[in-house]
Amino acid sequence: MSSRADLIVGLQWGDEGKGKIADHMAQTYDFVCRFAGGHNAGHTIVVNGKKHALHLIPSGILNPKAKNIVGNGVVLSPHNFIEEMSQFDNLEGRLFISDKAHILLPHHALLDQAKEIRKGDKAIGTTGKGIGPAYSDKIARVGHRVGELFDCEKLASKIIKYFEHHSNIFIDIPIPNRDELMEELKGYRDILSPYITDTTQLIWRVLDEEKRVLLEGAQGTMLDIDHGTYPYVTSSTTISAGACSGLGINHRDIGEVTGIAKAYCTRVGNGPFPSEDLGEDGERLRVNGHEFGTTTGRPRRCGWLDAVALRHAVRINGVDQIALMKLDVLDGFNEIKVCVAYEINGKRIDYIPYDLEDAKPIYKKFEGWDNSAGIRDFNRLPAGAKEYIFAIEEMVKCRVGVVSTGPDREDTIIRE
Ligand code: IMP
Repeated sequence: MSSRADLIVGLQWGDEGKGKIADHMAQTYDFVCRFAGGHNAGHTIVVNGKKHALHLIPSGILNPKAKNIVGNGVVLSPHNFIEEMSQFDNLEGRLFISDKAHILLPHHALLDQAKEIRKGDKAIGTTGKGIGPAYSDKIARVGHRVGELFDCEKLASKIIKYFEHHSNIFIDIPIPNRDELMEELKGYRDILSPYITDTTQLIWRVLDEEKRVLLEGAQGTMLDIDHGTYPYVTSSTTISAGACSGLGINHRDIGEVTGIAKAYCTRVGNGPFPSEDLGEDGERLRVNGHEFGTTTGRPRRCGWLDAVALRHAVRINGVDQIALMKLDVLDGFNEIKVCVAYEINGKRIDYIPYDLEDAKPIYKKFEGWDNSAGIRDFNRLPAGAKEYIFAIEEMVKCRVGVVSTGPDREDTIIRE
């Protein structure tokens, strides 16, 4: 018998509060694994008054008993990873990096930023970290993998050849100096080699040993390369299926799926967001919810819960329970809206169509409530808040098993 790995996944456009739930859940797991994305992701976790910024390292790092895996589906910037590692002591034996993860190099970020400038008002609004170019190289089969760091000489030659082949695109990006590149790669190798391993074999072994494994998604379903609002998406498979390819496990290895959704909606960057509120309510959500990006500091676009997108996300990820985050941010509104369908070219649509660009929201209104902040018992929530949660369960066809009412680890209601 082997155990099954539980999974947490973002159900909206990222920033749903996965960090808080991952941190909460990671306390009871032996292994926490990242399967997609790169240092575009980010969350801050406060433990014993000390702030930790996590971008690439899984949340289990804050539980001294948990081990952490960075899977092959991740694009890893050695420079940023090493910087992030420096926040922690004694990582050896607690952190494992897949030898098959792709390396994100500084020129990927330069290319990302240059492409965005060239796109003008059609820019995606990326984090500028080089995620798209790194995944493009992977898919075009010209990428470099972490395991190649074990032969820096060969890797340096390969990188220089890669630059020569791309000289028509890299107009402002010079070919690296071979000696400097060798030094840089050796520096990465010296620090990272104790952590690099075949993480697929490792995860199979720990599942066979019936260890408790948590798979930690990054970004959100609506940013998925296939199922999000393309092209305004990130470049990886953010949905639960990405855990299989991004770690080398099969669908039967996956156990309980917890989908994370905010009680309202936010999005960073450009692209369709039908339930965005550009007025006072949106501003109030931004201020009350502190909706500014962790990685880029950008103000997030804010709006009402989109039940159509949430239902889509529940189905596509096979969600068993929803963790509904930041319910308290809705405290004090007289009226709360939920997008229950879209109007597109005069037609009512209640699923995610090919293109959301012209979708207008059709809202259902709910009465507001006061004082849900800090409540830790479901029965003590204001009646309006309970009604809202029951209505969401009905609309998206999924149980809300966890409700978060504040930033503290303890401001979390677990419903039996
Ligand atoms: P990229 O992942 O940097 O290429 O950015 C592509 C899109 O995904 C942009 O709209 C970003 O704002 C968005 N994005 C990437 N990472 C995150 C995240 O962690 N939270 C929210 N949005 C993100």
